[in-house]
Amino acid sequence: MARILIINGPNLNLLGVREPDIYGRLSMEDYIGAIKADYPNVDIDYYQSNHEGDIIDRLHEEGFDSDLNGIVLNAGAYTHTSLAIADAIKAIKVPVIEVHISNVHARESIRHTSLLSPVCRGVIAGFGLDSYRLAIEAFLY
Ligand code: DQA
Repeated sequence: MARILIINGPNLNLLGVREPDIYGRLSMEDYIGAIKADYPNVDIDYYQSNHEGDIIDRLHEEGFDSDLNGIVLNAGAYTHTSLAIADAIKAIKVPVIEVHISNVHARESIRHTSLLSPVCRGVIAGFGLDSYRLAIEAFLY
């Protein structure tokens, strides 16, 4: 059975409540429930943390598991600032796809820079919560 880990970074625990015009009205828990139903043959694990070090710890813990097909990472604002998360992605063996709900390139210029993109397998942005599903599809292909 394929296994995918989704990791969400800071403030993404507030999906559905936080700036709904940008991030939508669905909670991540509801979305994960729907996506698990859509992919009954994929073991989809979900982790969220507001703390940079916790995200790095999780990348280390899971990143050498040969049974894990890939990690879908929305690092939130850490995308634009965290050399430490970039180093962790570079250090691990499991491929990571960077995901954003919003089209970061259509927003403030500070969001146009990602420290993570160069060390990720690919980047998916701007498709709302469907960005996560597209990343899962990319790992399953
Ligand atoms: C985000 C975009 C980031 O710039 C922002 O800080 C987030 C969410 C997105 O999913 O669109 O927290 O990663």
